[in-house]
Amino acid sequence: MTQPESSASRLSASYWGMNTTLAATTKWCNMEISKKEMKILLKSQQGELDAVLMYNALAKVAKIKKDKETFRQLAREEGHHASVFHKLTQRELTPKHTKEILLPILYKIFPRWILYPAIAQGEYAAVKTYAPVAEKFPEGMFRFEKRIER
Ligand SMILES: [Fe+2]
Repeated sequence: MTQPESSASRLSASYWGMNTTLAATTKWCNMEISKKEMKILLKSQQGELDAVLMYNALAKVAKIKKDKETFRQLAREEGHHASVFHKLTQRELTPKHTKEILLPILYKIFPRWILYPAIAQGEYAAVKTYAPVAEKFPEGMFRFEKRIER
């Protein structure tokens, strides 16, 4: 029996990439971040950290090897995203375990063709949240490469 088309690679690694250069660092160190913007950056940083745990947990339960690899890759990327936000906020946050616990349960309940697009939706929503703030920072720092294949 062949596997259905819906694999985690649809949630393809690096739906967007962030590139931090030293030049960018010096630039945004001098940049004013408003209270409202800081709130968004912190929320985003938290989301990225939580996603690291979530994707690693999904990698553990995924039944297909390719999906496992994709989830691991996504976890690494989320870690990188978190580090970008950390550079901006200069705040240490603790990852929350909610999604790390919930998603492996959902993985067992729902078929992948339902679950994966739902996860992708969550990612799009996250990007939407910080996109207006990201605009302030040097181009290339938040490079939007939405590569979640449908
Ligand atoms: Fe992310």
